[in-house]
Amino acid sequence: MLLEGKIGLVMGVANKRSIAWGIAQSLQGAGARLILTYQNDRLGENVFKLARDLIDPILLGCDVGSDEQIDRLMSDIQEKVGRLDFIVHALAFAPREELAGSYVDTSREGFRIALDVSAYSLVAVAQRAVPLMKERDGSIITLTYLGSERVVSGYNVMGVAKAALEASVRYLANDLGPKGIRVNAISAGPIKTLASSAVSGISGMVRLHTERAPLRKPVETSEIGDTALFLVSPLSRGVTGEVLFVDGGYNILGV
Ligand SMILES: NC(=O)c1ccc[n+]([C@@H]2O[C@H](COP(=O)([O-])OP(=O)(O)OC[C@H]3O[C@@H](n4cnc5c(N)ncnc54)[C@H](O)[C@@H]3O)[C@@H](O)[C@H]2O)c1
Repeated sequence: MLLEGKIGLVMGVANKRSIAWGIAQSLQGAGARLILTYQNDRLGENVFKLARDLIDPILLGCDVGSDEQIDRLMSDIQEKVGRLDFIVHALAFAPREELAGSYVDTSREGFRIALDVSAYSLVAVAQRAVPLMKERDGSIITLTYLGSERVVSGYNVMGVAKAALEASVRYLANDLGPKGIRVNAISAGPIKTLASSAVSGISGMVRLHTERAPLRKPVETSEIGDTALFLVSPLSRGVTGEVLFVDGGYNILGV
């Protein structure tokens, strides 16, 4: 069991289709004990139901738009278990109206919210987790998408937020490496989830991916879960600051 005796935080489960839930299942299957967060009480109901399948989970609320809530999350973790071996940051948000039409029409407020929730939150969580993770060969992972480096119609401000997130991964990896903490991102291919349903054209993206990606099939959350397992386990102990694609090879294509 690769993660026997390890404790980790998984942020971003909304329902059974969430990438974070696919990751939680892979990590628990490898023996980890999990702390799951939910954004609000409404989503918390789903998470409480799903967590019945986990062994001895800890469930805590946390809206990453609030420093106070992240502070409270970390002090609850300190009190309940006193340490963290890994963190999975699988959350993002942009106002729905920013995910249709043209990027040139992005509003100041839409830009601020997308970058705050989807990119800055990784920094806010990482900086507070250091005391719980240092000298434990800790690993932090986040989720990104190809729209950070290529133009994907409708992805708009979220592509810019993912570019900031990927740059943050590299800066955080450099800062936290000397403390024994690695930081990496998984760039996932398109999957229909609660968040991605806000991106106009997501069904077409999944179809195009299935027709053209070298592996010629939709990406599954279990595939992302197993890559997350690699990245939080000692198998990837020499890897930090990287963006690893789990997209059936779609990103290698030209025309
Ligand atoms: N689905 C895809 O096609 C795809 C592809 C590549 C990357 N991703 C990324 O994967 C991650 C997970 O998304 P998903 O597709 O599983 O969708 P999802 O809707 O299942 O998960 C998104 C999560 O973000 C959480 N969230 C949003 N705002 C928050 C806030 N202020 N505080 C706390 N939590 C907040 C939601 O509660 C939800 O749990 C996101 O970073 C997304 O950008 C998704």
